[in-house]
Amino acid sequence: MFGVAGIFPGVFVMKVADFADLEVGREFLASRTGSKWCRYPAEVIPSWIAEMDFLPPDGVQDAVMRLVAKRDFGYARRPLMPAERQVGAAFAHRMKERFGWEIEETSTQAVTDLRQGTIAAILAFSKPGEHIAVHTPCYGPFREAIEESGRQIVEIPMLQAEAGFVPDMDALRNAPADLRMLILCNPQNPTGRVFTCAELEEIGSIAIARDLIVFSDEVHADFVYDGHTHIPFASLGEDIAARTITANSPGKSFNIAGLRCGVIHFGTPALRDRFYQRVPRLLLGRPSAVSIDAAVAAWTVCQPWLDRIMALLDRNRRLVVETIRERMPKLNVFMPEASFLAWIDCRELGWDRPAASVFLDEAGIAFSPGESFCARHEGFVRLNFGASGEVLRDKLARMEKLINAQ
Ligand SMILES: Cc1ncc(COP(=O)(O)O)c(C=O)c1O
Repeated sequence: MFGVAGIFPGVFVMKVADFADLEVGREFLASRTGSKWCRYPAEVIPSWIAEMDFLPPDGVQDAVMRLVAKRDFGYARRPLMPAERQVGAAFAHRMKERFGWEIEETSTQAVTDLRQGTIAAILAFSKPGEHIAVHTPCYGPFREAIEESGRQIVEIPMLQAEAGFVPDMDALRNAPADLRMLILCNPQNPTGRVFTCAELEEIGSIAIARDLIVFSDEVHADFVYDGHTHIPFASLGEDIAARTITANSPGKSFNIAGLRCGVIHFGTPALRDRFYQRVPRLLLGRPSAVSIDAAVAAWTVCQPWLDRIMALLDRNRRLVVETIRERMPKLNVFMPEASFLAWIDCRELGWDRPAASVFLDEAGIAFSPGESFCARHEGFVRLNFGASGEVLRDKLARMEKLINAQ
């Protein structure tokens, strides 16, 4: 295992002893070419897209370097099996180990990204004009997938309760008669909720009663903090599995979203066959050899790295929530139960512009705008705390300075 300072001597400034090898210096981050780093001027702190500031694990780097070293960029296949099958096998193995969910690798389809999986499932299991439900505020591309495919969105509000956000079960129960599908996102982006077993069972019983297909995006499942448990929706029972497509990828957990490789899993062979009748496999394309090897490495040998990242993120989420509660009492935030995103209610500040625009223009912080998750949420921002302690403290200090100057 090589240390990052060894690859880029002199570029890294180690920040906090415990996580020194994970926390990358700002100069190096600024030299990156991804969307996160190139959208705003250098003086703005990017705190938007769901991507962490950390270097991906050595296991991923090694897998990619093995191909690069041999310039091994031909059509992907691995000994005695299609390359994508390795992704399905790694996913199945991981689901059993992490969540006790036993599935067949042959029930999976590799996709280049989960947005592709989402729209493919929508095209397969609903018709134009029909209704599709999603808990809102929601990850923007869910709405785009529903609207761009000519389906109609039914917003199921995440209701603000004393201890956090809870899904509105009645809104789902009473949705229009031609409701065909539910897009479930658990852990929920952006509220950071991890649905409890009782909540999932209630959603499941409504799905059965209403004969819904459920597309369950579980891409944030690896990031669940102590005290909460991720339950794959399809693991709730055979009748639920028979109507559930589960989506996952190592993109978020191992910080390799740009490599493009994920899976969708069909709860039964019948569901899979129905899918392929409407969506030919050829239309889905195939992930690259590089992304396949990276995904397999991430899911099979990189958990120790993720364990350390989780410890760092746990420190960061406490820093965000405690700082906001102590020093910016007009902001409201619940402790995220998963992931590296905090959903912050800024409405009490009384700003007459969307909160994210004010933070961008006046404090040089690019948050994900609340309105990108739901039109009515322009008073909210989503803060990405997948950053070094130094960058996060700077972000919080800029917020405090702006708010206290009001
Ligand atoms: C819930 C959710 N699903 C999917 C994605 C994107 O996944 P992909 O890049 O594989 O399309 C994100 C990214 O932020 C997300 O938060």
